[in-house]
Amino acid sequence: MSSQFPENFLWGGAVAANQVEGACQEDGKGLSTADVVKYVPPEERKSLEHILGMSRAELSAAILDKQEQKYPKRRGIDFYHRYKEDIALFAEMGFKVFRMSISWPRIFPDGEETEPNEAGLRFYEDVFNELRKYNIEPLVTLSHYEMPVHLSVKYNGWESRELIGLFLRYADTVLRRYKDKVKYWLTFNEINCTIKFPFLGAGVLTEGRDNGKQAAFQALHHQFVASALTVKRAREINPEFRIGCMLARKLVYPYSCRPEDVLKAQAENQMAQFCSDVQVRGYYPSYIRRHLQEYGVTIEMEPGDEAVLRGNLADFLSFSYYMSSTVSTDESITDRTEGNLSSGLANPHLKSSEWGWQIDPIGLRVVLKEMHDRYQIPLFVVENGLGAADVREDDGSIRDDYRIEYLARHIEQMAEAIADGVELLGYTSWGCIDLISASTSEMRKRYGYIYVDQDDAGSGTLNRYRKKSFYWYKKVIASNGQQLD
Ligand code: BG6
Repeated sequence: MSSQFPENFLWGGAVAANQVEGACQEDGKGLSTADVVKYVPPEERKSLEHILGMSRAELSAAILDKQEQKYPKRRGIDFYHRYKEDIALFAEMGFKVFRMSISWPRIFPDGEETEPNEAGLRFYEDVFNELRKYNIEPLVTLSHYEMPVHLSVKYNGWESRELIGLFLRYADTVLRRYKDKVKYWLTFNEINCTIKFPFLGAGVLTEGRDNGKQAAFQALHHQFVASALTVKRAREINPEFRIGCMLARKLVYPYSCRPEDVLKAQAENQMAQFCSDVQVRGYYPSYIRRHLQEYGVTIEMEPGDEAVLRGNLADFLSFSYYMSSTVSTDESITDRTEGNLSSGLANPHLKSSEWGWQIDPIGLRVVLKEMHDRYQIPLFVVENGLGAADVREDDGSIRDDYRIEYLARHIEQMAEAIADGVELLGYTSWGCIDLISASTSEMRKRYGYIYVDQDDAGSGTLNRYRKKSFYWYKKVIASNGQQLD
């Protein structure tokens, strides 16, 4: 039987600068919004909002705080110094693509300099050269949950329109510098998360605001405009570039077939699709007006914004997919599930990961089909994976069969979606090497094919070890997705 996956399918893995690099103030890098997020022990994790937002006073204190161990993203997994070893391991698995991000404050430490930091530019150049050595295509996110913290303090992040120009200077600098080294780019990681997590997605603090959503949607609008202007600039710099947008695409099912539940699920899914509607179709869809009214939000636009959005559409649509949840209008249903920067009602037909995220491979197929129908442009699954507390046995092995099972079932459903007619460019599973968690800053929740010896407190040798899934994924790639078990 021949593979459903096209011959040039891009198999690989994904990470983000702030979760792996470390070296947080080395070679001229400025502090980023990720570097001020504290590790919060499990018993203090009241809600994700608690973890990912903060007050102005907490932000100022964190900036001055030199106790590195409190802020795990400052140390990452030392990819900054070990990238050669890590890339060699990716190459051994047969990666065709590696998704990574550039840390904006490594290039413009405060975000407002007129000249970039050459040492930062050289670091990424070295990484891209190393990838090219193994014929691994870089897929580069310009903004993955971090920005110079100075811009958050001075402008309240993306709430200010000033950020558009500053981001464009950064984007222009790296697009030009790497114009012959990188072909695939993403502008903003999980852009829809700015709505719910404005500090994480956009460096926006909402403390003391009557309506935090107003600031969040305004920031999101500025990101839409910046993204479209980046697409425009990128096409001028190199017409061969492929530039995608990126969504967190959790699937929401109606808990029951009651029409009220169906309507509620539709509304929830629209809040994610609204962002891809803007970035792929080029305009705010009419259904969003009512959502904005309900939130009491009015987005300020400048003349010309609409034309910018219409004129500079994404070439492909990429997204993260980890799980699904359900919603209901029936308040007697209270069994809840956790999720990727979200929570919802549990689905009695699904099992959950150790972190309570519901595992739903068929949901991935549903999402792929739906988005392909809606947009008719190529799709790219740029995040998917299972966070688990892996154990390194006495003999040194890490037997992560549960991860193999999770990934195999999702890849199987991608193959089905391709058979259903979906155009899929590639698959980069999340955290191909263990890294610091985005939501909780813990190390214990591991996604990788490669184990990194470091615990939540930052102790460990940082040595890398191949897990069982490492050898499995190597076979998956070599067989172009045919050998899954
Ligand atoms: C996505 C992010 O939301 O989910 C990643 O783009 C993140 O940065 C991933 O790491 C998994 O979430 P977590 O909270 O388990 O790290």
